[in-house]
Amino acid sequence: MNQFIIRGGRKLKGVIEVRGAKNAALKAFAAALLTNKPVTIKNVPEVEDIKRTIELLRRLGAEIKRLRPGEYQVTAREVNSSVIDPGIAKRLRASISLTAPLLVRKGKIRFPHPGGCVIGERPIDIFLDGYKALGAKVQYKRGLYDINAPKLKGDKLVFHTVSVTGTETMMMAATMAEGTTVLKNCACEPEIESLAEFLNQCGANIKGAGTPYITIEGVKKLRGGTYETIPDRIEAGSLAILAAASNSNLLIKNCNPEHLDSLLSLLRKVGVSIKTNKNSIRIRSSGRLKAVHIKTHEYPGFPTDLQAPFCVLLTQAEGQVLVHETIYEGRLSWTEELKRMGANILNLDPHRIEIKGPTVLKGRNMESPDIRAGMAYLMAALCAKGKSVINNVYQIDRGYEKIEERLQKIGADIKRI
Ligand code: EPZ
Repeated sequence: MNQFIIRGGRKLKGVIEVRGAKNAALKAFAAALLTNKPVTIKNVPEVEDIKRTIELLRRLGAEIKRLRPGEYQVTAREVNSSVIDPGIAKRLRASISLTAPLLVRKGKIRFPHPGGCVIGERPIDIFLDGYKALGAKVQYKRGLYDINAPKLKGDKLVFHTVSVTGTETMMMAATMAEGTTVLKNCACEPEIESLAEFLNQCGANIKGAGTPYITIEGVKKLRGGTYETIPDRIEAGSLAILAAASNSNLLIKNCNPEHLDSLLSLLRKVGVSIKTNKNSIRIRSSGRLKAVHIKTHEYPGFPTDLQAPFCVLLTQAEGQVLVHETIYEGRLSWTEELKRMGANILNLDPHRIEIKGPTVLKGRNMESPDIRAGMAYLMAALCAKGKSVINNVYQIDRGYEKIEERLQKIGADIKRI
């Protein structure tokens, strides 16, 4: 098991490049199964969740070539199984997005309840109800879901909750369903618009992606195509927060500042200087930070995936503020360790905490619980006095490509052992 050894307190300086968005690339790999023609996926982050997804696709019979670092060709000429490997599916939530192309290609699927980050209950009723509405039969026996639908038929689906993967998966399922499918109360994240553009390039007929209303006219089949993964807005946002919290001066390149408007406006209120260009963010922090309240929200609101990093910043800022996590009921428990580092945090209920700053954080020995909380511990360790050890680095590697090497280049004292 790898560990990160971090000595905190250094200012960071220089240029850091953002990789492709994990949560966009994962869905592109799933979408590649919808066609029997080759699909090229570019700007893929070389992270553990992508590796697991590639393993899943290979087990289903897809041929996957690594053309160069960050570029893959997926050809699913035949799909020879309708079972999603339970061992791997239990390790990542995104495995559920494979259910749509498999159902389209095989007419049936079997899969376990997906795993992934332990941040709340994470039900899959939106997927099951969606498949039923499109004409499928759903059964659950001995820990496995069985879905049968020799033919999918378009219908109206109204999501009870805004769900990113739910929207993407139902959009994929409907691409080749008979007739028209209307999705209402959709998630509007940039990854969804990007997936729809790719599917349309392959011959699908999807309108409205990026808004709460999506209409899909079913087509007979899809061609191959090329998908360019959009920049990872969560990685870019985490680096911007790190620069602010560590009193640093960073140029974050290869990102799309438009996707981070809600974060950047909050960072300006915190008192950080920010300049944006089309593909980069320059961030300068004087170290004098003013705390602001945050409330997570679906896009274009403040992303739940940046809640943990932003809490670290709030421990370094002046004032007492509320952090309201509205999306997940288990996504604040990671702050127990932050308290042990010296943060002044009051838990109000599973969705709300109060942070009073600034506080001096002290290095500790920690266990990374999930991708984003793991990154938050890493950031806290970089801001802290003394040495920290972060165990279970696999969780951080699930979402960030060789993060320690990239942070070393901007002056961080971090080692992997
Ligand atoms: C995606 O998860 C991301 N993962 C998450 O990032 C991210 O935190 C989340 O969206 C919210 O932005 C991927 O894209 C792989 P949801 P997803 O369905 O799609 C409820 C990371 O670290 N819900 O939008 O699984 C659910 O409980 C990860 O990269 C239902 O009620 O999240 C939650 O409260 C962590 N029924 C809300 O919807 C369902 O059937 C939003 O979750 C599905 C979801």
